[in-house]
Amino acid sequence: MSRVSTPRWLRRHADDTAPRLAYGADYNPDQWPREVWDEDIRLMREAGVTIVSLAIFSWARIQPERDIWDFAWLDEVMDLLHAGGIGVDLATATASPPPWLTTEHPEILPVTSDGSVLWPGARQHWRPTSPVFREHALRLVTVMAERYANHPALVAWHISNELGCHNVYDYSDDAARAFRQWLRTRYGDLNALNHAWGTAFWSQRYTDWDQILPPRLAATHPNPTQQLDFKRFSSDALKDYLRAERDILRAITPDVPATTNFMVVAAKGMNYADWAAEVDFVSNDHYVVPRAQALDELSFSANLTGNLAGGRPWFLMEHSTSAVNWQPVNRAKEPGELARDSLLHVAHGADAVCFFQWRQSAAGAEKYHSAMVPHAGPDSEVFRSVTELGRTLRDLAPVAESARRPARAAILFDWESWWASEQDSHPTSLLCYHQEALDWYSAFLALGVRADVIPRGTSLDGYDLLVAPVLHVLPEPFAKELTRYVEGGGHLVTTYFSGIVDENDHVWLGGYPGPLRHLLGIRIEEFAPLLEKETVQLDDGATGTLWTDDITVTDPTVDVLARYATGARAGRPAITRRPAGGGSASYISTRLGPQQLPALLTRLCEKAGVNSELPPNARGRVELAVRAGRDADYWFLVNRTDEPVTLPDVTGDVLAGGTRSPGGPLALTPRGVTVLRRPTG
Ligand code: GAL
Repeated sequence: MSRVSTPRWLRRHADDTAPRLAYGADYNPDQWPREVWDEDIRLMREAGVTIVSLAIFSWARIQPERDIWDFAWLDEVMDLLHAGGIGVDLATATASPPPWLTTEHPEILPVTSDGSVLWPGARQHWRPTSPVFREHALRLVTVMAERYANHPALVAWHISNELGCHNVYDYSDDAARAFRQWLRTRYGDLNALNHAWGTAFWSQRYTDWDQILPPRLAATHPNPTQQLDFKRFSSDALKDYLRAERDILRAITPDVPATTNFMVVAAKGMNYADWAAEVDFVSNDHYVVPRAQALDELSFSANLTGNLAGGRPWFLMEHSTSAVNWQPVNRAKEPGELARDSLLHVAHGADAVCFFQWRQSAAGAEKYHSAMVPHAGPDSEVFRSVTELGRTLRDLAPVAESARRPARAAILFDWESWWASEQDSHPTSLLCYHQEALDWYSAFLALGVRADVIPRGTSLDGYDLLVAPVLHVLPEPFAKELTRYVEGGGHLVTTYFSGIVDENDHVWLGGYPGPLRHLLGIRIEEFAPLLEKETVQLDDGATGTLWTDDITVTDPTVDVLARYATGARAGRPAITRRPAGGGSASYISTRLGPQQLPALLTRLCEKAGVNSELPPNARGRVELAVRAGRDADYWFLVNRTDEPVTLPDVTGDVLAGGTRSPGGPLALTPRGVTVLRRPTG
């Protein structure tokens, strides 16, 4: 990742001595007449904007025909922005191919699993593996990089846009060819592939590579390992495309950092744990989806993004000032939500806060999507909030470049388990991997205990408590690492449908959960998932849904923390804990959900010695996230409620938000975010 110490996007001018948090939006001046541009720059300055992402969907404007180029407008916009002191995260402009290209080369259009073509008329209608698309797109990247290499406004490269948002799964003939090549590299020979895919089943044995296809619409469930490999391949195919653009940029502008905006974890297809090392800095897009755990989900996404960035600062590339346009009902944000949502990302390590988009479109599919300047113009509540946030971000300049301060507890997020646990022909189709992980996160928030959301591959050192929900895919080396973790004093918590298959999606035999049986001290002979509205009572008063297991305790040191009280499994263990080494290994066999997990988590935290850093009255009502600066920690206290919250005894100087009379309590406004500077050492 970052090859440059202070990324250029943290400085407005090259001669700025101190970094500051970046602020801005996607900017689409090509949708507007020339006279609007001057007002744009004036208003951007008023709002405190320091950076814009430019030209993301401008391919057709830049290259209206194969050999016609039009840069005059973009040159002018770049110059105007520079004169206004605004940096540019310049797009390579390859996100959406222009009509002349798809007319000349319809073979670049993606194909769905049932053979339908995704036609032009929207966006991102290109096959990740199309050599023809790649040739044209990389030509554009080269031209863009050469033209703007030395432009003083250029502070970062924005590769494509949300790679894979609409086109990650392509079942075309190009994809079939590339999939075969990918499989040859993975397996070397067909025997290995036949073994991994279990092709002895249903007469699927391959005798020639050319017989292999993507998992196209079939008579019934396609081969599960073929499906899992196709997911791996599809993520890799886009990663390979990302690298191709990046390598051109690195060759032409080695000092300009390049990123592509992730969608953690709104999009399932891209294994960002695997992508993060490919970009010079991690950037993410996040949109709130109205739901019971909406704020928890925002925090979860920001937290995981920060850990994908290795704890280092990252870039919030897009979120919304108010409503979006793509949900069934697009809810406007309530007063205070715009700033709270933005600052919650900063709390989890974002050093840039950007929106989609600068000026709300008057035409096109996104005309009802909010922006920094709404249809109503600058004389509006949204623009006033935007300007106020600009001031807050200026006050928060000392936070720039500080890392996340790791928590003592963590939740493991594993893309392969997400993909594999939700495949078809399983014990239940109701399992939702992300939901179970989010429920645990909500439970930590309810207790006011900080927890990191970490991708697999993160070092477990330093975590006293590790929750690994639905850790479905468990290759042997990782099972060994978890055993070492527990023997070294770590407290591991895992759940139903964990430790079930190896990397080939082959079941570990001899009783579930295969390689964790010994560590957990239990053996499961059979899963017993519950029907949609079915519940099961536990003898500690909790109610389980979704899943139950037939658990036999195999180790006398295991504590049964709760038993089933109803149903066919009444009297049998439901929640177990085995003290082992200096740590422990716990197993939860049913879904308890965000309301009931806090009670269990309280016990697990106690045993692991993990505590809340918040005063008791704030737990659950306030989220704490900590960033570690050179000589101070920054405490972000986020009021999760719509009421004021008063914190009696928290020390630190108020850097932004909230009020405190000398020596007095700290008052958080409803939905308010207060940042405290607490000197260290
Ligand atoms: C993102 C995309 C933006 C815009 C936004 C709307 O998916 O990158 O271009 O479409 O969503 O919410």
